[in-house]
Amino acid sequence: IESEKTSLKEGERYKPYTVTVYCIKNITSRIFYLPEMRSACTKLKYVLQFWTKQFQTHNIPDPKSSTEFIIAHALGKKTLFGVEPDTLLSKTQTDHVKSFCKMRLTRMPVQYILGEWDFLDLTLKMRAPVLIPRPETEELAELCCDTLSHLPSGEGQVFLEIGPGSGAITLSLLKRYPELQAVAVDISEEACKLTELNAHNTGTSDRLRVINGDIVDSQVFEQLRTHAPFCLAVSNPPYVTTAEMASLQEEISCFEDHRALHGGEDGLDVIREVLLRCSQLIQPGGHLWLEVGESHPPLVEKFTAFQETWKELPRQLVYKSTITDLYGKPRFCHLITS
Ligand SMILES: C[S@@+](CC[C@H](N)C(=O)[O-])C[C@H]1O[C@@H](n2cnc3c(N)ncnc32)[C@H](O)[C@@H]1O
Repeated sequence: IESEKTSLKEGERYKPYTVTVYCIKNITSRIFYLPEMRSACTKLKYVLQFWTKQFQTHNIPDPKSSTEFIIAHALGKKTLFGVEPDTLLSKTQTDHVKSFCKMRLTRMPVQYILGEWDFLDLTLKMRAPVLIPRPETEELAELCCDTLSHLPSGEGQVFLEIGPGSGAITLSLLKRYPELQAVAVDISEEACKLTELNAHNTGTSDRLRVINGDIVDSQVFEQLRTHAPFCLAVSNPPYVTTAEMASLQEEISCFEDHRALHGGEDGLDVIREVLLRCSQLIQPGGHLWLEVGESHPPLVEKFTAFQETWKELPRQLVYKSTITDLYGKPRFCHLITS
């Protein structure tokens, strides 16, 4: 254990150290020696400097933005935009920052620490290990909205999401289209509970049916069939390959559910099941939107074109297009049923 010399700034006290021991998933024990901050009112800029420096010292990714989000939360805000650097933080607020920053030192993602995160125009509760929605997924929800805006509107239109996680995609669509109904199926009980909680908080629960189950399970499929046909299906399934799983950031590998991430050897295990099931659940001329790994779109296209079993199915999926994400990576597959 190394203690490092810290140059003192106004608002900082070098001694005594606080010793904090963390245990992450029973694997890693960590001890942090943290210089104490003065407990009286402290200016925001010093709290920001102090914790950013601690995070840098301990190699925590995004040190400044992590600290900013935590301080903003202590002030009852979402960001520090427009907040004066000389703003005084009370003892309660600095203690709040301290306890949250200690969690961040364990590599816990800011979204789980704060317990909520924004997705498009919704604020959703976040709880480990349910996957934190990524910025790309906002694009997927927008693509679905665009498709839905071109479909005949009216009551009775139902869409399906496979793997809603926190409910981000489904709830955004339900919020935007008040006549739509949805069915969401997830293998994770925690994800189902979080989707239900977020549906309740966003006033959409009366139009949503959440099913806890595996899409591969024939009983789950029969249950889905009772709600079919769906005008649209959407899924951001687990698509990380076995090789990629070994190099995930600690924030992801230690805190997020591996069932939400790992898609098998080639990352396509759940994607293939989604394609097979959706071909039978979507109405003729209906749509399927998928978020996949950047190497996957040609493989999805090939699978829909050449799979032998495909031909025995009553309806077939036709690959329509690949859309790139905000980073320029091929990310979204659009298919329609014949
Ligand atoms: C990548 S996460 C997506 C979560 C959310 N839709 C989002 O975009 O933030 C994949 C989700 O699929 C669920 N899942 C994985 N395998 C599944 C399966 N076989 N059947 C149903 N859900 C599954 C996981 O539990 C997880 O919630």
